[in-house]
Amino acid sequence: MVWRQAGPNVKGRMVPYTAENVSPDMSFLEMLDVVNESLIRRGEDPIAFDSDCREGICGMCSLMVNGVAHGPEHGTTVCQLHMRCFKDGDTIAIEPWRAQAFPVVKDLVVNRSAFDRIIAAGGYISVNVGGAPDANVIPIPKNVQERAMDSAACIACGACVAQCKNASAALFLSAKVGHLSRLPQGQVERERRVVRMIAQHDAEGFGNCSNEGECEAVCPKEISMLDIVAMRKEYMRANLGKREEA
Ligand code: FES
Repeated sequence: MVWRQAGPNVKGRMVPYTAENVSPDMSFLEMLDVVNESLIRRGEDPIAFDSDCREGICGMCSLMVNGVAHGPEHGTTVCQLHMRCFKDGDTIAIEPWRAQAFPVVKDLVVNRSAFDRIIAAGGYISVNVGGAPDANVIPIPKNVQERAMDSAACIACGACVAQCKNASAALFLSAKVGHLSRLPQGQVERERRVVRMIAQHDAEGFGNCSNEGECEAVCPKEISMLDIVAMRKEYMRANLGKREEA
């Protein structure tokens, strides 16, 4: 069963298809490619879905599989999900991310540019241009760099939003804030980063986090909810300490 929706303002519906000649070693997206080839042969409109790297690093693939963001395998993007996870004859429900802030473009493709605007609001660091500095010129303790890199693993796929009953992007947001605010390079904008990114998150229509934990459960990069705790501390620090300059 696949969600078919011709455009953003058109009503969609689940449509049954039979996937034939599917090998257990195919990825989930390869299975969809096979279904699309048969649709094209029949002169029908192929199913629109997003993908790019197909190796779990770009965050483009974005499918609800049987009601679970990225499907049944823990810590796996849907492009790395394989058909051996299903039984021959299974019925699989495939839907797009569902969130007001991720409007459907067509079929399984949603517009995730809200994430780009959150990053533009503060997910960056300022550096002086010029010659490249020597590697390791800024010493960073191992535990700090490892914690920052854990957060940097977020691929901004949006699974956290899709699975959350509040459609909150708190896990994504906290990973991006946490990654930069832990590192020396991220200190210049530290206070205004968290304030501006949270303001943009709310303006985009994402909901508030109520500690459901669904985000952490489906995150393909296993970002921890502890990042959300750390982000709240960052937000308090920014508001109670140095005030944001306009
Ligand atoms: S297609 Fe790049 S992460 Fe799935």
